Amino acid sequence: MYLTDDEERIINGERGEVMERMLRLLVRLGDIYSADKLIPIGSAQVSGISYKSIGDPGLEFLEDMAGKGAKAKVLSYINPAGMDLENWKELGFKEDFAAKQMRIIDAFTKMGMITTATCTPYLCGNVPRFGEHISWAESSAVSFSNSVIGARTNREGGPSALAAAILGKTPNYGLHLDENRKPTIVLRVDTELKRGSDWGALGYFAGKLVKNRIPFFKGIREGRTDNLKALGAAMAASGAVALYHVERITPEAHLFNIKELETIDVESKDLKEAYEKLNTGKDPDIIILGCPHASIEEIAMIAKKIKGKRLKKPLWICTSRAMKEVANRMGYTDIIERAGGKIVADTCMVVSPIEDMGYKTTGVNSGKAACYLPSFCKQSVVFGNVDKLIDEVVE
Ligand code: F3S
Repeated sequence: MYLTDDEERIINGERGEVMERMLRLLVRLGDIYSADKLIPIGSAQVSGISYKSIGDPGLEFLEDMAGKGAKAKVLSYINPAGMDLENWKELGFKEDFAAKQMRIIDAFTKMGMITTATCTPYLCGNVPRFGEHISWAESSAVSFSNSVIGARTNREGGPSALAAAILGKTPNYGLHLDENRKPTIVLRVDTELKRGSDWGALGYFAGKLVKNRIPFFKGIREGRTDNLKALGAAMAASGAVALYHVERITPEAHLFNIKELETIDVESKDLKEAYEKLNTGKDPDIIILGCPHASIEEIAMIAKKIKGKRLKKPLWICTSRAMKEVANRMGYTDIIERAGGKIVADTCMVVSPIEDMGYKTTGVNSGKAACYLPSFCKQSVVFGNVDKLIDEVVE
């Protein structure tokens, strides 16, 4: 891989240990994938934030980096942490977990990262441009930024996104290149997506079917942001899909000739099958919405549904701290709390230790959460639309 004079100096250790280590990591990655050079990025989004996911080795690594002066060179956001960074005690998170989690957040703060810990940075202050090169790690955010915005990122891991944040560069390969953004299979959706959860079910089914390939959807008639984020998140979870195109909806879809591509029909029976696979439990102990993190529109919709009602089971709505501030100002937090629910910021059902908090069966409307909860959090899952889930828990 070609290195500029400045990069040569970094790799020779002239700009300190942190820069050298980070550059060596990116060069190794670039060599594996035959990148020709490093390219500048507009922003980074780093994963591996929850103490539950990274444990003591991750915590020590981050504190070491921060202590040695690592600093983000570009706008850098972090993924959800393992708990609500303000209301953790009230929500039942344990003291020792909280102490370690706060040390992780402090390390990121020291490194100059924005610590509104979220998987939807594009909803709160980190919106890339069409065609902009970025280095993001959270798979649902990767999918959204590539597909819906038309920015360019590979599915980074936590360390490579951290290195990119510190150097402001990423290796030029994969989805940064035009030739790798072409669709490779067509999915003709021959069924209506009536409920919000249908998008997660479609994403789960499509991801399993296409596995790593780039699907081109036909037959989808609308593209609301919340629905596209649910679709991409579920496909990323079930099939590692980092980019998809939707005819007449996503910005690069018109660039490709899809005539020669294999085409598969997706029918209502396929969505039904996805619902059946994702539903592994009954009678949830808790309902957790907001995967990916809820938008203000989703929070408003839930507040409207439960206004004046009383919930007999816990309800969490996961979102970013920034979005919770908007919900507070709009009075949605009050409405939700009066019904017995909570807006939980900075974390989510998958990266928080809900399995250690006594929950065994979780109700979700997200295909991604339904896909991950059994393995990551030992949960049985009730997967369904918001209306149905809320009906189950109102008195
Ligand atoms: Fe976000 Fe957690 Fe879902 S990180 S996409 S809310 S699993």
